[in-house]
Order: sequence, then structure tokens, then C-alpha cells
Amino acid sequence: MSRIAYVNGRYVPHREAAVHIEDRGYQFADGVYEVTAVRGGRLVDEERHLKRLDRSLGELKIAQPMSHAALKFVCREVVRRNGVRDGIVYLQVTRGVAPRDHSFPKDAAPSIVVTSRRTKGAPQKSVDEGIGVISLPDQRWARCDIKSISLLPNILGKQQAREAGAYEAWQIDRDGNVTEGTSTNAWIVTGRGELVTRRADSTILNGVTRLAILDIVARQGLTFVERPFSLAEAKEAREAFLTSTTSFVLPVVLIDGEPVGDGRPGELTRKLRAAYAGQIEQ
Ligand code: PDD
Repeated sequence: MSRIAYVNGRYVPHREAAVHIEDRGYQFADGVYEVTAVRGGRLVDEERHLKRLDRSLGELKIAQPMSHAALKFVCREVVRRNGVRDGIVYLQVTRGVAPRDHSFPKDAAPSIVVTSRRTKGAPQKSVDEGIGVISLPDQRWARCDIKSISLLPNILGKQQAREAGAYEAWQIDRDGNVTEGTSTNAWIVTGRGELVTRRADSTILNGVTRLAILDIVARQGLTFVERPFSLAEAKEAREAFLTSTTSFVLPVVLIDGEPVGDGRPGELTRKLRAAYAGQIEQ
């Protein structure tokens, strides 16, 4: 089956799909995106992704490209045309095409691209044995709550992690606290059994998976606190894990090469992964 992309109102063969060279996404990274998981052909937490998309667009004063109903239709259609049962949908909206000028164009219509592909998710070994993260300084801007396509520090950080043989890089703010991974949210379980993740302020992206885990945590009545935690505290933690649309919940067993807890995936991490998997497979 050949791949199909949606570009500004048309379904086109993936290899021919293109946007204009003066698209502001291409020239200024002036756009936003969402990655939504597809399980059994269904979009996971679609409403939350659409809500976050609205918020990102609103914060950047980019016009809505189409109604939620139309967006849902296009996403479903792209999933269907690509025969994706388990994978992802990628949706990107930019401010549109206009002669290069930093200030907003007056009459550009937003550009929209939707693609979908099958993905396998994290390797079973990573789930069973856990993964390693490295730490590095958070070099990003002050509005990490906006899901902007401007991802240079994130890709540099991820590449540094790969070169170090790690799965992810945890970014550290000026106070020595962990903000988040380059494409994932960060969590720890303290020695006292307290589940900790950073509050969703402008220093992190409020992950849809993060919110789904918080729902599970609330339902199960687990002890939980939203507060910053330092790199040192993470290294001393009983458990650590990360969450995202593409990784779900993955145990972190090494930070900068040092084992977390006993160096094996923690009990609460495993429980939360299972609960989340159960929820999205429904
Ligand atoms: N990344 N933090 C950052 C910086 C992210 O880019 C992401 C998502 C997350 C987790 O958010 P969610 O649970 O909504 O996926 C946290 C996506 C998957 C990506 O860029 O591919």
C-alpha cells in the first residue's frame, strides 16, 4: 500500500507531498504540531490532542485551519488510507505561505499537513529492562508549553543521548531541576513512595500521556505531588520513568550511567504502564 499524505486540502502520494519554499514553517519554524497514537485504528486521547493544538495555535495567534470535526475526519481518513492500525498520526499547522518577513503576514491562510505511519512502539527490551537517560542543560526558550515545531535544542539533545547510548536526555534548568526529556515527560518515585512530576507550567509540555497517567493515579488514590525535582533527587529515587505518545510509560533505570534504585524497572512504573496499556487497548 503506497503512503498518502494530506496537504492543504488534498490527499497526495507521500513521496510527492510538498509545501511551498516560503512556508513560514520552513523558514521560521512558525508552526505547531501534534503526534497522536493510533491503536486498533483508533486515535488515542484525540480530544486532548485537539485541545492542546487549539491552545498552541491560540498562544501563537495562528488561525484554526479547520473545525475539530473536519480535523478528525482528515486524521481518520489519513489513517484509513495508509492502512494504519497501530502507529501514529502527525499533524502540523503553520502560519502559511508569505514573502519572508518576520512580522505576521496579513492574509496568509494556515498550512496543514497530516501524515500517518505504522510504528512498533518502544522495543520490548526497553519495557522489560528499562532504559538509560543522560542529563544536559535545558537550552530551550521560555514557552515550552507550546508544542512548537521549533525543536533544535530537542533534536540536539536526543542526538547527544543516542551518541551516549541512552534513550533520552533529561534537560536540567538553572536551579538543577529536571524539566523534561527532549520528547518525553519525566517522573520519579521517591524513597517514601511519593510519585513526583513537574507541574505543567511554561517550562514543560503538558503531555497528553502525562495527563492520562495523572487520571490513573487519581483513580487509584496513589500518593502524588506535582513539584520540581532535582537531578540529584532523581539519582537517589526508588524509581524513575518517562511518558509520551510514542513511548507510553518506560522505566528509567540509569541516569548518567548511575543505576536508579536497584537498577531494574520499578513496581509502580510497571503498574502504571500496565494500567495505561489497558486503557488505550480498550
Ligand atoms: N513528543 N515533552 C516534549 C518536549 C515532547 O515533545 C513530548 C511529545 C512530550 C510528551 O507529550 P505527549 O505525552 O503528549 O506525547 C513531552 C512527541 C511524541 C514528538 O515530538 O514526537
